[in-house]
Amino acid sequence: MQFKNKIGKINKLKYKRKLVCLTGYSKPIAKILDKYCDIILVGDSLATAFYGMKNTKQIKLETMITHLISVKKNVKKSLVVFDMPFNTYRNIKEANKNIKKIFKRKQCDAVKLESNGKNFNILKSLTKSGIPVMGHIGYTPQNKTKFKPQGLSKLEEKKLIREALLIEKAGAFSIVLECVNHKTSKKISKLIKIPTIGIGSSNACDGQILVVDDLIGLSGFYPKFVKKYANLEKILNSAFKNFKNDVLRCKFPTRSNTY
Ligand code: KIV
Repeated sequence: MQFKNKIGKINKLKYKRKLVCLTGYSKPIAKILDKYCDIILVGDSLATAFYGMKNTKQIKLETMITHLISVKKNVKKSLVVFDMPFNTYRNIKEANKNIKKIFKRKQCDAVKLESNGKNFNILKSLTKSGIPVMGHIGYTPQNKTKFKPQGLSKLEEKKLIREALLIEKAGAFSIVLECVNHKTSKKISKLIKIPTIGIGSSNACDGQILVVDDLIGLSGFYPKFVKKYANLEKILNSAFKNFKNDVLRCKFPTRSNTY
């Protein structure tokens, strides 16, 4: 399906059912996610969840593109969104230069830009040139140093609502709301016509996203908004321990594993 059709479908879903979104950084995970997700985000959380970096600001565009290629090649149905890493869209010229690299050979369907409360003109310039853009407001790790739930005060709520409206006006097809309190995310989701995708922002949002490594119990990062649906760390521990024991006791390889 062409990305324009996929985006049209996602927009219509706002009034039908919740959107299912997850992050994906690799071929095996992307193949499985494609069966269940409307959107797969190649997020810059790759930096912390996969590479063990201190924060998301350290990941390079080229590293992210390598992961994007392996995801995109293995996704048929879901919309693949690429998270523009830190310092790759500080002005229109820089954003355009990097967008060209990302969209080369149709490597993705859309990009995500974190809002810093000022970069609406960059978003608008991209959407005007036909690039589908997802916005991101609330706790935006590229612009904030300390984790804090967002939208708790009246002033914060007003600012977030204004930001969401400006992002919609700039032509974004959806917005991630990260760690925005329930009341504010409900107000935003009602006010704008494009879907809101929540992470730590309550079920008032039009869809939900989580970082896969958190959901499968592999990242070691489990804030309140994460639900661990599997404990892969436990499963892998047991598998590696059994392998070790088999090797030490000469139980592996057996004849059936040998040529
Ligand atoms: O990088 C990421 O995974 C994200 C999600 C948390 C929305 O931006």
